[in-house]
Amino acid sequence: MGRVLDAMTSAGVIPEREFEFTDKDFKFVQWFMHKHVGIYLSDKKMPMVYGRIARRLREHKLQRFSDYRPLIEEEGEERVNFINGLTTNKTHFFREMHHFDHVEKVLIPKWIAEKRTKVRIWSAGCSTGEEPYSYMSLLASTPLFDRVPDVKLLATDLDTNVLATAEKGVYSEEQISAIPKPCLKAGFVRGRGEHEGMIKAKSDLQSHMTFRQLNLFSPWPFKGPFDLISCRNVMIYFDKPTQQDLIQRFHQYLASDGHLFIGHSEGIGECADRFENLGHTMFQKR
Ligand SMILES: C[S@@+](CC[C@H](N)C(=O)[O-])C[C@H]1O[C@@H](n2cnc3c(N)ncnc32)[C@H](O)[C@@H]1O
Repeated sequence: MGRVLDAMTSAGVIPEREFEFTDKDFKFVQWFMHKHVGIYLSDKKMPMVYGRIARRLREHKLQRFSDYRPLIEEEGEERVNFINGLTTNKTHFFREMHHFDHVEKVLIPKWIAEKRTKVRIWSAGCSTGEEPYSYMSLLASTPLFDRVPDVKLLATDLDTNVLATAEKGVYSEEQISAIPKPCLKAGFVRGRGEHEGMIKAKSDLQSHMTFRQLNLFSPWPFKGPFDLISCRNVMIYFDKPTQQDLIQRFHQYLASDGHLFIGHSEGIGECADRFENLGHTMFQKR
């Protein structure tokens, strides 16, 4: 049996472990996540991984990861729960505001001036939905929906739990402060009665949106082309070759003048010659 991994606390004390999770088990988890979803878990992530796996073992009343492992080796519900448990879903409305400024000041006027009949946006790795609703409430606060008859946004994520939240489109009022007033008015309604303290995306807005579970490393069951692909703070969890493959695929799925937005700490590496760099992690297909 391998060494039982334990995190040292800042005081240098090794806390007692509730479950057996060896270094071999951790290596298996690293391999498994990379193989199935492209996520690279560095050795530093071990305490986080242990914490999240512990919840699954507790739920199944198991003491050792080695007893749990067969449940995720077969394709099924527990594999989904396991992967959901290891994704990082942090997000908020209008995160990285410069992207939304660009949509408002450059893309919307361009689409209107070109008399587009349709606009297609893909929020890839949409988490609990704040990103796609930010785009759509922004569009709704402008004349775009009156001028372009067919506007659609596809929102996808690997994690089925966050996607269910995204599809509902219900958020707490504490999140309102991040939403610009015109977008709040155009895109959301405030809850009353038992929904007091909540906001909900307008159903009219949701009628332009499709939510779909998608592992970015599976075949994509749609053709595009997209005018805007927003894949922000997702690739940060992948290693460099995986990121490059993904950016090449995004390139193929973009319209000839389509835009790609990525997260603030992400880059497009070797694919740089295929895009014009617009600054602030915004790229236009060449
Ligand atoms: C940190 S969140 C980013 C959310 C949003 N894009 C933002 O910038 O605020 C990363 C999301 O990527 C999703 N994700 C991770 N690996 C994925 C994969 N292989 N395929 C699809 N989505 C993935 C996670 O489930 C998570 O919801």
